[in-house]
Amino acid sequence: MQFFADSVNLEEIRRARALNLADGVTTNPTLVAKSGRSHEQAIREISGLLSGPVNVETLSLNAEGIVKEGRIYRTWGKNVVVKIPICREGLAAVAKLAAEGIPTTVTLVFSAAQALLAAKAGARYVCPFVGRLDDAGENGIEVVRQIVGAFREARYTTQVLAASIRTPEHVAGAAAAGAHAVTIPHKLIDPMLAHPLTDKGIAQFLEDAKKYK
Ligand code: G3P
Repeated sequence: MQFFADSVNLEEIRRARALNLADGVTTNPTLVAKSGRSHEQAIREISGLLSGPVNVETLSLNAEGIVKEGRIYRTWGKNVVVKIPICREGLAAVAKLAAEGIPTTVTLVFSAAQALLAAKAGARYVCPFVGRLDDAGENGIEVVRQIVGAFREARYTTQVLAASIRTPEHVAGAAAAGAHAVTIPHKLIDPMLAHPLTDKGIAQFLEDAKKYK
């Protein structure tokens, strides 16, 4: 399973890259707005930090506008993947961009049915939002598992990029469910690392090492 950085912050992406946790990057309008930088400037700089896919989200609500945006975003970096929310117009744009050889990610996916439509339209990735499904009282990891199983049986090559990842358990659950990639916020790395028994074990080893002959 690959790890993507869910961030527009250059320093976060550099630190994730140092841990081999930046096989790609996902951005979205919320993250771009929080960055306080121009969309183009931020994406150009991120695109230069890694060779993996950099997901850039479109805002248009009609296929023509989405395709137009996607073509522009691709000029901001050769590794840009056009990120498109699941909707009828978005699927039409996915198909058009796929025909032009422009890779897409279909995002804001909350069901296997949506994911199947995205894959059939030609998306390279689909992003099921695990945390938001849990927020709504559903089981986000179970939806990931359903999508992975459906794609396997349908022999689709579209990859499942689990998003809206909030906890270490989401990361482990996405991996166990067969997700091809997970995109995580930088703030999740430390909670993934932390365990009281590890701290206790290190302290004990250091204490015992004082008795080395
Ligand atoms: O990649 C999508 C992610 O940024 C959304 O996460 O926690 O706002 O649902 P969240």
